[in-house]
Amino acid sequence: QITKPDHRGEYHFSPKEKWMNDPNGMVFFDGEYHLFFQHHPFGDTWGPMHWGHAVTRDLIRWEELPIALEPDEHGTIFSGSAVVDWQNTTGFFPDEPGLVAIFTHHLERPDAPVVQTQSLAYSTDKGRTWIKYAGNPVLERADLPDFRDPKVFRHEPSGQWIMVVACGQIVSLYRSPDLKQWTWTSDFGQGIGSHDGVWECPDLFELHVDGDPTKSRWVMLVSIGDGGSGSEGSRTQYFVGGFDGETFTPDEASQQVRWLDHGRDNYAGVSWSDIPDEDGRRLYLGWMSNWRYANQTPTDGWRGAMTIARELTLETVDGADTLMQRPARELEEARVPVLELADVTLAGLRLALEPLRLGSFELEVRAESGRSFGFVLREGDSCGTPVGFDAEAGELYIDRTQSGECGFHADFAGRHAARTAQPGSEAGAAAMRERGVTAMQSESGVAERQAADSAAAVSETQAGVQPGADSETKPGMQSGVDSETELRIFVDRSSVEVFEGGGRLVMTDLIFPSGQSDRLSVFAGDESTVFRFVRISRIAGSNG
Ligand code: FRU
Repeated sequence: QITKPDHRGEYHFSPKEKWMNDPNGMVFFDGEYHLFFQHHPFGDTWGPMHWGHAVTRDLIRWEELPIALEPDEHGTIFSGSAVVDWQNTTGFFPDEPGLVAIFTHHLERPDAPVVQTQSLAYSTDKGRTWIKYAGNPVLERADLPDFRDPKVFRHEPSGQWIMVVACGQIVSLYRSPDLKQWTWTSDFGQGIGSHDGVWECPDLFELHVDGDPTKSRWVMLVSIGDGGSGSEGSRTQYFVGGFDGETFTPDEASQQVRWLDHGRDNYAGVSWSDIPDEDGRRLYLGWMSNWRYANQTPTDGWRGAMTIARELTLETVDGADTLMQRPARELEEARVPVLELADVTLAGLRLALEPLRLGSFELEVRAESGRSFGFVLREGDSCGTPVGFDAEAGELYIDRTQSGECGFHADFAGRHAARTAQPGSEAGAAAMRERGVTAMQSESGVAERQAADSAAAVSETQAGVQPGADSETKPGMQSGVDSETELRIFVDRSSVEVFEGGGRLVMTDLIFPSGQSDRLSVFAGDESTVFRFVRISRIAGSNG
């Protein structure tokens, strides 16, 4: 008997029913991470937008709550953000602090142009019920057809709220003392970045560089709508620069386009507001789809899922402040061990993977640098998704051409690749020449292959490489990310997320394999390839 595969992820958030797109109103309050989302509760394709709502305490197990915001006379409810008004700047909270949502009203009327305005709603019961502000909308721009997705944050140095909001193909910045009256301060985006499509869902936040509390830069995220044929569909770029409370000034390195994710399915992601200072994390997630085919993905009764929660940091890579993404640490806490091996040969690993049957798991692997290798994920009789590192090309790739159901859109099947800065690759060699080194330190127990490396070994600090934050705790992992190819691969029922080199390069792709495609196999360019560390875990999620 052939049953329709259940593509619902075990540890990724998806709505119980019907359509979902962008994450909205992400805010942490009183122990809960709130996730609101673009939701069409009456259909499984995009339609009149509402804000759906879910909460989690651990970023993995989600509880879906009733719809938070419904359309009204000002329009349907497009994307936006939420903050805690700790100081009652709005006057909405005479008793105790509460939540304010700042969102776009999208108004379509017959025989009139579309109008997008920014509005407020507030909640005094931890986001369970919402009151729309009587003075809505609070911000209008009659000249702009595309004026949406306000992301608001508190800027203590200026004692103001700051809003970044997408306006066609730029981002405008505003400031406000009370979230009700807004003053334009500057525009960003003319002549910089990718303009392949409409700009959407901006975010702006400050991060320390290399974990140094005395050094920080600002990161601007901008999602770009589908630029049509020839483009990769919708995707997200980022800029690094300075922010003085009024103007965002990009650094030199941001003159070139930098992508947040090199797969096809991570869009409209923004970060959580109000994560407590003592924690200091900047957590992010995105919508795991692409406007090119989002309305056609082959799920049943529901459509749309979010990425795993990821921690964003800024680290110096080849002299440039670079945005890194690591899975939130809660994912480590949710691991249920399946298999763990150190210093295993290709043949040995093949044998160990043979009996496994897994639809949803995490795979961590560290192999000797400069070796081509990969895994076929969600493998079945005549399908599977190869994911790996090609040392010759210096590329990380996901190949979903045979990944399962692909025919729902002509642009879905494909192989997606991105260049890494790996030793052994051209890019890696160039990166190392720049650092003045010829090889990276390597201290593994696998002796044979180390002779050449150790002759030219240099320390991590000389090489200017920051070790991965958790590298000391990992068995078999001795030095910085460059002495090994390190991948963390999160596979769920219909998705693959690959984090390379401690989060320098990330690729997120949807796949729709059959339920029977549950095998996992390994391959390598060279039979003598040794894997220093392999660990497979299940993740105990909401739908496991
Ligand atoms: C991004 C987006 C936003 C808009 C929302 C509508 O995916 O187009 O710009 O607010 O989706 O659902």
